[in-house]
Amino acid sequence: MLIKPSEITPQQVYESRRQFIAKMALGAVAGGALWEMANRAAFAQEPAQKLAAKLNPSYAALDKQTPFKDASTYNNFYEFGTDKDEPHQSAHTLKTRPWTVTIDGEVKKPVTLDIDSLLKLAPLEERIYRLRCVEGWSMVIPWVGYSLSNLIKKVEPTSSAKFVEFTSLADPKQMPGVGSRVLNWPYVEGLRLDEAMHPLALLGLGMYGQTLPNQNGAPVRLVVPWKYGFKSAKSIVRIRFVKDMPRTAWNVSAPNEYGFYSNVNPEVDHPRWSQSSERRIGEDGFFQKKRKTLMFNGYSEVAALYTGMDLKKNF
Ligand code: MTE
Repeated sequence: MLIKPSEITPQQVYESRRQFIAKMALGAVAGGALWEMANRAAFAQEPAQKLAAKLNPSYAALDKQTPFKDASTYNNFYEFGTDKDEPHQSAHTLKTRPWTVTIDGEVKKPVTLDIDSLLKLAPLEERIYRLRCVEGWSMVIPWVGYSLSNLIKKVEPTSSAKFVEFTSLADPKQMPGVGSRVLNWPYVEGLRLDEAMHPLALLGLGMYGQTLPNQNGAPVRLVVPWKYGFKSAKSIVRIRFVKDMPRTAWNVSAPNEYGFYSNVNPEVDHPRWSQSSERRIGEDGFFQKKRKTLMFNGYSEVAALYTGMDLKKNF
């Protein structure tokens, strides 16, 4: 009987050995391009899988959708580098199956769910959301997922749960950017519990009718359309319910620039640039007039979450 190396060697050791052998062999003859091909083969990205989802008309922005090509090649995912085109070039090394998300902290029913259970937890919906990046650009993306509240209700937060903390994977073996000091890894984001329960807050499992490309945060991410894009943590491995406001990655790195709330607000400028307008990726030419940024990115139904709060102080 033949035993495959993959059966006797732990998966990662086996994979890195396969890569090493491929690299040695190819390095000798060709280098560059061939090594890149072998590397891609060794870390084959999960093929995109179609996701059946019904459009939710209550959450279907009428704006022209951003072409898939732009949405999947112009990305922020610092775990794969800080340039916009690095994530789509490098994120094929992210292994998105098997994948689990641990949901714990101040909950009555902590649980670890694999990605198939998450895909089945609630009916998948298509929602067309605008997403506004703090850098001054925006996109319109047809996401696939369901309200995060479906998941929150399952774990039954205790009365002490006031905030929800989201943690992204930080594995330097799969994510070359995690070796850099650009942020404190892992990437952590957070919401107040009532924000997380708002029906607009989406647990994203796909886009454009299929599973998420790695560079867009496969296999599971957050999409919080009334907040700057960085609140929408990608490739989430843990969701923790806590008493105190989480220390989020961007807030820790530059507290005077990135607050906890980070609601889209054209009246509160970033200390280094205006937030009053935005460039729509894929639609507007570089010299095209910019669009006006709208309060809460146009999602005025969330305003009641902030009644009585000074949104200049709580930026
Ligand atoms: N999540 C992680 N883990 N790492 C990141 O660097 N970047 C954020 C957010 N989520 C980021 C992240 C920022 S700044 C933005 S604008 C959005 O992801 C971009 O999402 P998109 O590439 O799908 O448009």
